[in-house]
Amino acid sequence: MSRLIVVSNRVGPIGDAARAGGLAVALVEALKSSGGIWFGWTGDVIEEADTRLKLESAGPLTLATIDLSADDFDAYYNGFANRSLWPLFHFRTGLVQYDRDNFAGYSRVNAAFAKALLPLVQQDDLIWVHDYHFLLFAEELRKLGCTRPIGHFLHIPFPPRELLTTLPNHEELVKALFAFDILGFQTEHDRDRFFDYVRMEVGGSILGDKARCFNRTVTARAFPIGIDAGTFANFASTDDGQKQFASMRDMLRGRRQIIGVDRLDYTKGLPERFNAFERMLEDHEEHRGEVSLLQVAPPSRTDVSEYQDLRLELEGMAGHINGRFAEFNWTPIRYLNRSFARQALAGLYRASHVGLVTPLRDGMNLVAKEYVAAQDPEDPGVLVLSRFAGAAKQLTDAVIVNPYDVQGMADAMNVALTMPLDERKDRYTKLMKVISEEDIGHWRTSYLEALSSVEHAGVTGG
Ligand code: UDP
Ligand code: G6P
Repeated sequence: MSRLIVVSNRVGPIGDAARAGGLAVALVEALKSSGGIWFGWTGDVIEEADTRLKLESAGPLTLATIDLSADDFDAYYNGFANRSLWPLFHFRTGLVQYDRDNFAGYSRVNAAFAKALLPLVQQDDLIWVHDYHFLLFAEELRKLGCTRPIGHFLHIPFPPRELLTTLPNHEELVKALFAFDILGFQTEHDRDRFFDYVRMEVGGSILGDKARCFNRTVTARAFPIGIDAGTFANFASTDDGQKQFASMRDMLRGRRQIIGVDRLDYTKGLPERFNAFERMLEDHEEHRGEVSLLQVAPPSRTDVSEYQDLRLELEGMAGHINGRFAEFNWTPIRYLNRSFARQALAGLYRASHVGLVTPLRDGMNLVAKEYVAAQDPEDPGVLVLSRFAGAAKQLTDAVIVNPYDVQGMADAMNVALTMPLDERKDRYTKLMKVISEEDIGHWRTSYLEALSSVEHAGVTGG
């Protein structure tokens, strides 16, 4: 069997540490049994560039990481990745800031990381690169002579070509994608938007799941990412999960709770959600004093001003709604800027009667799947899910909402809160079937089957 090298900007942490971000969560699950190398950023920023590798073993897995210099952190991570690509790929052209120096930093880091990885690459390795931070990675490895199969998986949406072309160097980025052998997307829609760009913008041709352009052919398919459904369902019965569940239900004293768990990110639709919760309380006097919203929102990318603005906005909104509706013994919104370990989250999900997942745009959204997996099959809660999350393509038995429609979301919360047990069980059973069948093991296996079947002439450049 081939050894696997996984490349991603965010690496780990391994174990039960609190970890906010679907990529790291999914890769820990996918890698813990197979072993191999997980290569990327240490998470540390140092003054001067230094591409020395830090090696750490974690069971069958080796973590190989590099620090970022302060300049690279600003240009590559805060700049091009999080101020250009992140908003653009989430359809938010109004928030995109493009700067040539940031792109130069992005290229520099892709090239430097490829160079640092090369000596680790062996004869039979498969290389699996993740997400928008490393779109140039295969091109850089190929320049250095590496001929091993290299795949890419994009965890976030792929934008429509009319939006992608607003980025001055869009063609350079797409061309670099053709240095990969396999491109994985979260949904067919994302894959088709890539095909549309290739066909209409750069004169390429599509045959089945293959795109041909720039004298190269790449296979592009949807591989919807999943969770470890069984383990997650069991989390709710671990000591930590039980403890969280019991103390939460104790605290609720028969009252009900809606839960949201999201990185503090403008793609997650948090202000719209708070507005909808307020509207629901306005419309339904019977829920006042009876239904609260627990919003877990760990801070993310705190150097980027849009994230700082969002934090202030939400603090204002939570204060306003609580000031307006709170009673001395009931608080409408409990808003927590911290992260929890997933075991603890499982208990919180299970104790909550409604799971509210309402991003304006999201690649997949694992929280939606985790909320369902943590429910008690005999008395399950209801998932309210944005139609603009990749997960909505699979989880069609959730209560589907348009997050831009405040009244629609308020109505959906009420539908979820008043849903009869039979219907809740029926929806839960159907959702669990999809979540268990298309789980993280299925994602990993189907992607790696595609990658290992790539016929590649030549040997490693490592
Ligand atoms: N998460 C966590 N602790 C927290 C908040 C989130 O472990 O306090 C995890 C959550 O369980 C999920 C992931 O972070 O697995 C978030 O993934 P998702 O796909 O929902 O969104 P992303 O953050 O990747 O945009
Ligand atoms: C999303 C992205 C990941 C990223 C995560 C957390 O899930 O798709 O690539 O790791 O958010 O963001 P951060 O910038 O902290 O890595």
